[in-house]
Amino acid sequence: MRLNVPLTGAEELAEIAEVLESGYLTQGPRAARFEKLIAEHIGATFAFATSSATTGLHLALHAVGVSAGDEVIIPDFSFPATANAVIQQGAIPVFVDIDLATFNLNPSLLEEAITPRTRAIMPVHAFGLTADMTAISDIAARHNIPVVEDAACALGATHRGVSAGALGTAGVFSFHPRKIITTGEGGLISTSDEKVAASISVLRSHGAVRGERYMSFIDAGYNYRLSDVHAAIGVAQMARLDYILERRRALAATYADLFVDTPGVTTPITPAGDEHSFQSYVVLLDEDIDRDHVIDGMKARGIETTLGTYSMHLQPYFSERFGISDEALPAATRAQRSALTLPLYPQLEESELQHVAEVLSEVVAGNRSAAKR
Ligand SMILES: Cc1ncc(COP(=O)(O)O)c(C=O)c1O
Repeated sequence: MRLNVPLTGAEELAEIAEVLESGYLTQGPRAARFEKLIAEHIGATFAFATSSATTGLHLALHAVGVSAGDEVIIPDFSFPATANAVIQQGAIPVFVDIDLATFNLNPSLLEEAITPRTRAIMPVHAFGLTADMTAISDIAARHNIPVVEDAACALGATHRGVSAGALGTAGVFSFHPRKIITTGEGGLISTSDEKVAASISVLRSHGAVRGERYMSFIDAGYNYRLSDVHAAIGVAQMARLDYILERRRALAATYADLFVDTPGVTTPITPAGDEHSFQSYVVLLDEDIDRDHVIDGMKARGIETTLGTYSMHLQPYFSERFGISDEALPAATRAQRSALTLPLYPQLEESELQHVAEVLSEVVAGNRSAAKR
């Protein structure tokens, strides 16, 4: 059983065919339609489709005013693209620890990480659960610091009735095939801030604006556009979004029931007032369980699982450059060692989840008795 299988079909093929037949393949009407569908869905004024979430994060940081030497606060537990985007902007990532119960940035540690050089806060909505944006926005507003949401995994998630991507100054989604919907590769920046939107619009496409006859290049911009071929897939995917979210949430509820009495396995929580999108279903194993052995054991039984995500300070580049001790980031360090992602995608049946749960409890129990020997 695979960890994730994107849900695509004839509708995506038909949309792609129309783009190919039109002869206009770069960013055009499909991307505009895709952007409108997402902006309406999340309740943001502007949406800009990008070639990936990584380019989207870089562009969003640039547009909110981050420049060389600035500090950007991020949680330590995330796919390293979060920190890479900060580095690409010449800025310095400041890693803050997470709350193990949610895998999200621990807001009680945020204030002490702010310095006069802090130019942005970039919380991650880990695995589709929004960070505590009420607490984060409150601290950010007091210090007058923009918030860029790394909402790569969180299309469809909400915090107190507001959608991920509409909770900060800007939000960034990913459409990599492991995300809620896919365009193959792709991303999107949402914002309701006119100035930020104007900046993104120019920087996304070579720093150019339309002149009377030719383009006029007013900034040293990027080419971070999403092509219409990819956006066509996204348009078809948006028609599936409600179904995908409904299935992911239903299957997550099934897992939670199945694991109620499984020793050593802690299931994810959804704080009251939030809606999880369950891009990934990530459990935390007890400390005495060897997570990597569990992954091997599951694989031997035909079930693909993987780690949760990365404690970035442990990765060679960040460890060599910043040399942060594990003691400074204990929760993220533990999550890197003990978090486990289980298969979850809309095509799975409840009976298949039951099989995953049975195998996992056997593998975990075997691992524990081996550890005792
Ligand atoms: C939290 C987070 N941010 C950013 C990214 C980068 O997304 P992309 O692959 O679209 O560049 C990912 C991808 O896995 C992610 O999980």
